[in-house]
Amino acid sequence: MGPARALPVRVLCRLLGIHDTSAAVLARLVTPIIAMIDHGRVPLADVRRARQALEDELESAFFSLDDCNGPLGAAILDGIAAGTLTRKEAADNTALLFVAGTATTTAAIAHAIHLVVTMNTESRREALDAVERPGFLREVLRLQPPVRYTPRFAARRVRLGEIALEPGAMVQVCIASANRDPRAYHRSHLWSLDRDLEPAPLTFGRGLHSCLGAFLAELEVIEVLRYARSTLERASLVDVPKLQPGWTLRVPAELIVST
Ligand code: HEM
Repeated sequence: MGPARALPVRVLCRLLGIHDTSAAVLARLVTPIIAMIDHGRVPLADVRRARQALEDELESAFFSLDDCNGPLGAAILDGIAAGTLTRKEAADNTALLFVAGTATTTAAIAHAIHLVVTMNTESRREALDAVERPGFLREVLRLQPPVRYTPRFAARRVRLGEIALEPGAMVQVCIASANRDPRAYHRSHLWSLDRDLEPAPLTFGRGLHSCLGAFLAELEVIEVLRYARSTLERASLVDVPKLQPGWTLRVPAELIVST
């Protein structure tokens, strides 16, 4: 899991123009924030401290850059200069990228590798040949979505089945369950390269607030599979991975393979 954990933070740093040396610090600072979102068993004071430290680190490693060579970073700094983004909006959203885009992508990398290394030789070769096909990763993440739940709030009085929801009521949409709904997908518990992905899986949410980083995350996983292809062709699983305990995220606690 080490490389799968390090990569998404590094990619974000490069996109923002943050020097690689800050990557480990940023990864450490987002950990309690992600833990709170995932299972909530973290003292709120620790989370507030980590959030402030994250902001401080971004202030010195990113917002103080004289010359930003990251494409996303340059766009954010231009937005502040042009007045289309306030400084606070830029700071909050930059911090959000590290919270939303790291453990999720780590999980996606791990799930994809896990699936590949548990296939027989023939299916594995077929899968590795197909990693760039649009349906390949969508199907991996349909089956193993890194985010289990996403919340929605009722904007008006509405009835969901037998339940009446008042305005403001929160509903937790269970992505993991919807993605395996047997009424939506034939033999929904199995991975299939030829599956018709209609309706589209909810892996990255839906609508106005669907995941901002979906394409980036997919690209990262595909690049890992392409880069590690020859290793993955001969790798085997050392132990069946357990999921990290948590409510929101589905992240393998450890994924150990031998080559
Ligand atoms: C495989 C990896 C990822 C998964 C499974 C994932 C999943 C999700 C889900 C389910 C949502 C909520 C969508 C909704 O409720 O409709 C979300 C929102 C979001 N994601 Fe991702 N995400 C991933 C990677 C990333 C990355 C790499 C970034 C950015 C670097 C990112 C940034 C965001 C942001 C900013 C939001 C909030 C969007 C909004 O509220 O408008 N995510 N993501």
